[in-house]
Parts: sequence; C-alpha cells; structure tokens
Amino acid sequence: MRQVIVAGNWKMNKTSQQVIDFVNKMNAEWKKCKVIICPSHSLLSTLYQTGKNKGICIGAQNIYYESKGAFTGETSSDQVKEFAEYVIIGHSERRRIFGEDDSILNKKVLSALNSGLRPIFCVGESSQQRKTHKEYEIIKEQLDNGLRSLSTDDIKKIIIAYEPVWAIGTGEVATPQIAQEMHFFIRNHIKNIDGDIADNIPIIYGGSVKVDNFYDILRCDDVDGALIGGASLDALNFSDLIKIGEKHNIDLINMSDSS
Ligand code: 13P
Repeated sequence: MRQVIVAGNWKMNKTSQQVIDFVNKMNAEWKKCKVIICPSHSLLSTLYQTGKNKGICIGAQNIYYESKGAFTGETSSDQVKEFAEYVIIGHSERRRIFGEDDSILNKKVLSALNSGLRPIFCVGESSQQRKTHKEYEIIKEQLDNGLRSLSTDDIKKIIIAYEPVWAIGTGEVATPQIAQEMHFFIRNHIKNIDGDIADNIPIIYGGSVKVDNFYDILRCDDVDGALIGGASLDALNFSDLIKIGEKHNIDLINMSDSS
C-alpha cells in the first residue's frame, strides 16, 4: 500500500512572517499521510524551525546541479539539504520560463540524489501536445531523459508528479479518468525498469487541485496524492486538503486490512 502525499508548492509566495502565521494557523492533524511544503529557498530555514515539530516535511523548489563554486545566485543540493528532504525538479515553469531541458533536469536529479534529497520529478504535456495526441510520447520522453542513468536504488527515492501544463493555475483540473490513464501509463512505464519499484513508486497529480476536486482525483487507483499550488497557500484550505488525504489514507489501510 502506498502512502498518500499532500504536497504544497508555494512557488514565489510568502515572507518569513507569513510562514510562521501559516504554520500556526494550520488546523489539521495527520499520522498516516505525508505532508510536504515546498517554499522559496529564502524561507526554508523558517519553515524548518516552525514546521519540523508539527510533522511537516520540507521540500525545495529547485537546486543547481554543480556542488559549489562561482555560480552567482544558485543554491546547491547540499545547501538545500540542510533544511529539506525533497526537491521539486522539472516543474513546467522551470522548463518553460527558465529553459531547463531534459539534460539539465537529469543533472539536477542526479545531484539531488547524490546529496540525499528525494526529487519530486515533474512531467506534463501542454494542451497543444494533448490536442495532437502526443501526450504519452511526451511523458515517456520526459521520464526516460530526466531519469536517465539512475540506479534502481535511486529510482526508489523518486516521487513522480504528473502535472499537465494545461491544468496548472487554470482552474481546469484533469478529469479523474485522464489522471488515472496517465498515472497508469507512468507506472506501467516504470515496470520496464522494475516491477516492484513500479508498484511502490508514488505518483502524484498536480494542476488546479482544490478541496472540492481532490477526493475524486485521489480515489483513482494510481494516484497517490497531489502537488498543490494556489490552494496550498491558505493555511485552512491546505489543512482541509490534508484532512482529505489523511482520511483517504486511513480508508486504504482499512481496505488492505480487510482483504
Ligand atoms: P495549481 O494548483 O495552482 O494549479 O499549481 C499546480 C502546480 O504547479 C503545483 O506544482
């Protein structure tokens, strides 16, 4: 049974005081699901100090692949690792706005793993690619290139996030059917590497997840949680999403106990 993951990608939002206020205002309790928050680098230390006793896991939103040196403005995996366990790599905003291609992303994945960070590796097709029926080809390519040269032990540490570009920040969430079909495809593709890993790898969905659509997405067999942007910014909203994730995780445990 795979654990439910409720992850917030705060993108470029909040100040240190707002992080403290957010954590104090959260009203969810969880024991079974995993809650991850990914703030800007400047907020990692504040979230680490305020959130670690509450069971919040911390993720960064980016790293540079070199380990140190003259790379003004960049942050290495080792620097991030002081505060975070996870790092988002391959988000479509990094691919599109910052021109990060598959080969850069692959170096970032390898660097993160090397420092002991767990990558949340994002893949997703654009609306044009879906309209022209290229979505499976694109996802396969992003997975193969981004996860190139990883050992089976490394792949076990990855979380895959399927984030269709057309669903990010648009309010147009993927239907449960679209999400399930792609998550199934991704899991099946990982089976080419190893069947056990494929069964256990977390594959989470991202793109316009909100309180009123999260449960329907989460019920899909191959969806193990969500990477949430806008709806993760408000403490009470995010708490409600955690409650949905926690309840679903408990239901899964009960189902597996009774079978
Ligand atoms: P929204 O939830 O705001 O659509 O953003 C999704 C996302 O990009 C998470 O990484």
